[in-house]
Amino acid sequence: MKVYLDNGATTQVAKEVAEVIDNMLTKNFGNPSSLHQFGEEANEEIVKARETIAKKINANPSEIFFTSGGTESDNLAIKGIAYAYMDKGKHIITTEIEHPAISKTCEHLEKCGFNVTYLSVDKEGFISLEKLENAITDDTILVSIIHANNEIGTIQDMKAISQLCKKKDVLFHTDAVQSFTKVPIDVKAMNIDLLSISGHKIHGPKGIGALFIRKGVKVIPLLHGGDQEGKIRSGTENTPGIVGFAKAVEIISEKDVKQMKELRDRLIDGIQKSVVDAKLNGPKGDKRLANNVNISFKYIEGESMLYHLDGKGVAVSTGSACSSQSLSPSPVLISIGLKPEDAHGSIRFTLSRYTTKEEIDYTIDSVKEIVENLRKISPLKK
Ligand SMILES: Cc1ncc(COP(=O)(O)O)c(C=O)c1O
Repeated sequence: MKVYLDNGATTQVAKEVAEVIDNMLTKNFGNPSSLHQFGEEANEEIVKARETIAKKINANPSEIFFTSGGTESDNLAIKGIAYAYMDKGKHIITTEIEHPAISKTCEHLEKCGFNVTYLSVDKEGFISLEKLENAITDDTILVSIIHANNEIGTIQDMKAISQLCKKKDVLFHTDAVQSFTKVPIDVKAMNIDLLSISGHKIHGPKGIGALFIRKGVKVIPLLHGGDQEGKIRSGTENTPGIVGFAKAVEIISEKDVKQMKELRDRLIDGIQKSVVDAKLNGPKGDKRLANNVNISFKYIEGESMLYHLDGKGVAVSTGSACSSQSLSPSPVLISIGLKPEDAHGSIRFTLSRYTTKEEIDYTIDSVKEIVENLRKISPLKK
C-alpha cells in the first residue's frame, strides 16, 4: 500500500486542476497583457481566477496579487511593508513559530536596521495577547503571526489579534498558507491587512501563490519590470498556475475538511491507543488544523521512523519539510517546550481530501510495529 501523508509539504494536483492547466498551457496560452484575442482570452481567465480567490476570503478582487508562491507572498508582505513604512517606524513583531519564509525575512531585515520581536508561545503553540500588547510600541509598523502552524497545526485567534493591532494602529499580516481552504477566512470580519496563500498546499500547482493587500495599505514591490499585478508584482503572469490555483479553491468543500478532521482524530486516537509514550504536539479539536497530526515518540529517532515508514509505503515528515534536512531540532517544537531529544523523535502526518480510512488504519498498524521494533534496539531507552 502507498500512503501519502505529507500534504503539509505539498499535495497531489487534483485532476480537475490538471485539466484547466493543460488548457491554459496548450490552448489559452496568450500573454494576458497582449491586446489581441489570445491575450484577452487569457486575461479573462485571470479576472475570473482573481474573483474566485477573493470571494473565498471575502476580499475585493483588486486586493489579490498573484505571486510565485507562499514564500514570495511572505517576503512581499514583510519587506514591502517594512520599506513602505520605515519612516513611521522600524519595529516588527512576529512569533518564534513562523515558517522560514517569515523568520528568515525578519532576520534579513534585522541586518538592515529593523528591530524584530519574536513572541514566544505556550505549550500548545498559542501566542499570548498580553505579550503581544506589551510588545507593541510607537515604533511598531507591522505584526505578522502565522494563522495555522505548518508543523503542529495550532490555529491562532485571528480576530483577537487583529482587533488588538487595529486598536494600536499597527498593520497585521498573517501567513495563511496552511490554513487557506481548511479554516474559514474572512479578511473583513477578521480585520486582516495582508494575507499570504499558496497553490500547492491545496491540490493546486507549485509556483503560484497570492498576497491579499487591503485597499489603502502601501507595499513597495520587490520585483520591478512590466508593472503587472497592479504594479505590485512585475513579470508575465503564470496563467496556468493562476487558473489552476483558482480551480483548486473551487473544488474544495466543507465535506472535505470535515472528513480530514475525522481521519486526523482517528489517527491521533489510534496511535495513542496502540503506542505508549506517544505525545501529541499542538492542540486537540477545532483549534488544530484539519489535516495535521504531530507526535513525539519517546526513545525514537524521527529519521529512522521516517525511513521505516517509507519502507512500508507511508510518506511522512519530521518537523517541517524545509527544516527536516538540518540536524538541529525544529525551532517550533523547542518553542513549545520539547526537549531536543523529544523534538528529534517527532513525526508529522498531514492528510488531504484524498486520504482514506483504510490508509489511516494501515498507518496506525505500521507505526505500532515500527515503534515496537525501534524501541527494542533504541540506545535512548535505558
Ligand atoms: C506556513 C507556510 N508558509 C509559507 C510556505 C512557503 O510556501 P511556498 O512553498 O508556496 O513557497 C509554506 C510551505 O511549506 C508554509 O507551510
